[in-house]
Amino acid sequence: MSFGVAIMAAGKGTRLKSRRPKVLHEIGGRSLLLHVIAVAETVAPAQEILCIVGHEAERVKAAVEATGVQFVLQTEQLGTGHALQMVKAWFATGGAPVPENLLVLSGDVPLIRAETLAGLTEFHTKHDAAMTILTAVPENPFGYGRVNRQAPGSAEITGIVEQKDLPQGDAGSPEINSGIYCFNTAKLFAKLDQLTDKNASRELYLTDVAGLLVADGEKVVATVASNINEVLGANTIAEMMHLDAAMRLETAKRLMAQGVTIFRPETCVIDATVEVEADTVIEPFVQLLGKTKLGAECRIRSYSVVKDSTLGEGVLLRNGCILEDAIVGANALLGPYAHLRPGSDIGEAAHIGNFVETKKTRLGKGSKANHLAYLGDAEVGAGVNVGAGVITCNYDGVHKHTTSIGDGVFVGSDSTLVAPLSLGDGSYVAAGSCITEDVPAGALALGRSRQVTKEDWVARKKANLKNA
Ligand code: UD1
Ligand code: CA
Repeated sequence: MSFGVAIMAAGKGTRLKSRRPKVLHEIGGRSLLLHVIAVAETVAPAQEILCIVGHEAERVKAAVEATGVQFVLQTEQLGTGHALQMVKAWFATGGAPVPENLLVLSGDVPLIRAETLAGLTEFHTKHDAAMTILTAVPENPFGYGRVNRQAPGSAEITGIVEQKDLPQGDAGSPEINSGIYCFNTAKLFAKLDQLTDKNASRELYLTDVAGLLVADGEKVVATVASNINEVLGANTIAEMMHLDAAMRLETAKRLMAQGVTIFRPETCVIDATVEVEADTVIEPFVQLLGKTKLGAECRIRSYSVVKDSTLGEGVLLRNGCILEDAIVGANALLGPYAHLRPGSDIGEAAHIGNFVETKKTRLGKGSKANHLAYLGDAEVGAGVNVGAGVITCNYDGVHKHTTSIGDGVFVGSDSTLVAPLSLGDGSYVAAGSCITEDVPAGALALGRSRQVTKEDWVARKKANLKNA
């Protein structure tokens, strides 16, 4: 049976107390809405997924339009029932052919898994139901809509009561509505116009469709999700951080199942998009973000933050390294406290040490910059030794210039290399030099004044001072 998908994402998220629309808040490194769209795409192709937007619609659209989903505008947010009224109107204006069944997802229930949705649509089809509700029985059901079964153990329900509408002193059913449903589309559309806002929130509740269908003799069923975290909503920052932790722990478990060692995984912040090969060891308090890929047998020591970077095999990141948009070759050694900014490409077995910063810089195989250096807009060959405190002066106040350093060059400590500049293969730069002119291959360049030594100067000075 075919299913269209509608995602409710028009609400403001008042309970977050945030300027950002709720569905654009992030867990596991990705917005709630992108999570929901990704799982929706396992049910229908993007162009058949309708995203209902309203509050800050343009901002929400801009954030997800690359996925190729369709948008339905709900200018005023009068409730979840009203959101689906907008979907009905969209189809009526010829937006697309009406699908026989509609899977409705909530933009703020982000951990739902593809397997669970497959089970839900199957359950809906098997029961030939007008409406199927995905439910759960959490420890604390407070705040959720409550699902009442016709009888204990029965698949059929009588209706859903929102928390706010429970009669005084009634704790309500322990079974919650997840906000995820399947509908027979025609039967849903037939009931939407009968919704009223005679309830505690003065909203049009989509949940009231359940009672309306049952009153008409239609079949409304519910099925319990096997994993409680999957159906939890994210209405407050605290709830979101709970889901974030749950999601990241899942990612850590997936990586560990693939042979990665993660000490104290609950302290690590690892995005779901990260890939790590077997036998790599990740120490506590590490962040691996975005499209980061780590090769096999790496060791990532505590307090390193790696974003959108690729590391080859056997790389050692000592404590406190920060990498963004960087590439690191096999067996390279970084840190502690190395800072690889975008465009850093560190060669095989190269060393980038304490407080060394690189940006748009390629470092050849086995080259070393071990202490307190800045290499920006530089092309560095293989087997180069960059001394402590070396700086590429890449910026003249207006433009950025390139420093090119050949193979086997030795740059003495505390030298400044004023770009544009090129140091030929095998050349030497004396320590403490300020180099402004190109150095040919094999040459020694000195760019500093000659040392003056005054013998016995100290004793003479002291004697002078005493006699004064
Ligand atoms: C809703 C359900 C509740 C369920 C809970 C599960 C209703 C009336 N209640 O409550 O039974 O237990 O979800 O998480 O549906 N939205 C719109 N347009 C609107 C209002 C909301 O698109 O006019 C969107 C929101 O952006 C959100 C989703 O619908 O993504 C749910 O809305 P929300 O206000 O969070 O509903 P809950 O109070 O959580
Ligand atoms: Ca909600």
